[in-house]
Amino acid sequence: MILKALIFSNSFALIIALLLIFMDRVINNYGPCTLTINDDKEIQARGGSTLLRNLFESKYFIPSACGGKGTCGYCKLIVTEGGGGVLPTEELMLSSAEKREGYRLTCQLKVKNDMKLYIPEEYLNIREYTGRITVFDPLTVDIRRVGITLFGDDEIAYKPGQYVQVKIPAGPEIDYRAYSMASCPDEHDRIEINVKLIPDGLGSTYIHSLSVGEPLEFSGPYGDFFLRHDSHRDIICVAGGVGLAPIKSILLYWDRHNMNRMLWLYYGAKSTADLYDHEQFVDLAARESGLKYFPALSEPADDWTGKTGFIHTVMEKELPGDIHGEAYLCGPPIMIDAVTAVLIAKGVPEERIWYDKF
Ligand SMILES: Cc1cc2nc3c(=O)[nH]c(=O)nc-3n(C[C@H](O)[C@H](O)[C@H](O)COP(=O)(O)OP(=O)(O)OC[C@H]3O[C@@H](n4cnc5c(N)ncnc54)[C@H](O)[C@@H]3O)c2cc1C
Ligand code: FES
Repeated sequence: MILKALIFSNSFALIIALLLIFMDRVINNYGPCTLTINDDKEIQARGGSTLLRNLFESKYFIPSACGGKGTCGYCKLIVTEGGGGVLPTEELMLSSAEKREGYRLTCQLKVKNDMKLYIPEEYLNIREYTGRITVFDPLTVDIRRVGITLFGDDEIAYKPGQYVQVKIPAGPEIDYRAYSMASCPDEHDRIEINVKLIPDGLGSTYIHSLSVGEPLEFSGPYGDFFLRHDSHRDIICVAGGVGLAPIKSILLYWDRHNMNRMLWLYYGAKSTADLYDHEQFVDLAARESGLKYFPALSEPADDWTGKTGFIHTVMEKELPGDIHGEAYLCGPPIMIDAVTAVLIAKGVPEERIWYDKF
């Protein structure tokens, strides 16, 4: 009896879901619409599809790091006409001030009629690239180093810490996932990304299924997490797990440019098996007196003689209290929050702390 009721309610839910998809795809066919960008350019858009997807299809690349799920808040743009009221799925990501200014979450907002919108100048420089995988090495049990060399004479310019959006086939549609560049920006013909495999994850599973020689498309560069050049302050870098990727880009750039600034590198992982490129940093710290390197393991084996515990507790002990630094953090949200609290307690103001959480 209970089983019958369960089957009935599941089938009912499935029928409702299919009906909603059908209504959205077929009945809510708003036809072609015109998007006016920056009071200057007009593009044709597919009514019924999101503003973000329409912009991507017309080669306007807007930052978006959550695959359009409405959880990263990166895809905000000002829509001055045709957007309608703010949707419940946008509410959490828009402040009152942003709503007053007309900001909308473009991954949630569907194009239903003509629209006018504003795209900031810096986004207009973002473009698409295609390259071939030339490096595909395992770094840990679930992280791969993926080196991509651009086709032909193409070149990419980016700042250390920024990320790209890799194109991921997702059935009949295309999806995108953000991956930070782990390479030195001086190498304009190639990039390196470090990709952690997430069980059942669309993007990471796809990238892990590739091999040397296969093509990969991406757009970029994106993000305001990058090394600032306008100071002589110490650079405090903190990485957790695969959050090492953009931090490595900053470190390589710092080394290549002989920057006359101390760099404090705190790198947390679970065990030695999860710590990658560690030897490279040990060698660099031996060669460069300006680099202070603190790797730490939260679940060390008996033969580990280095620091132990979570990385913020190591920083509490090892980072001087009177440091005049600026900080770059990358790792899981819980790590970023704990490290930020330590930095603030040590006198690093919040406006000099930049981070990417993933
Ligand atoms: C700015 C930025 C830079 C990034 N740089 C990198 C990078 O350099 N290297 C890298 O590997 N990733 C990076 N990421 C994360 C990356 O964009 C994807 O979110 C990640 O690869 C998972 O995507 P997926 O398609 O495999 O999983 P999805 O299909 O999106 O997710 C599948 C399931 O796994 C869950 N999930 C997603 N992420 C995690 C996680 N970390 N741990 C546990 N469960 C999870 C989801 O909630 C979902 O239930 C970055 C993210 C941002 C925002
Ligand atoms: S793409 Fe992440 S909130 Fe829109």
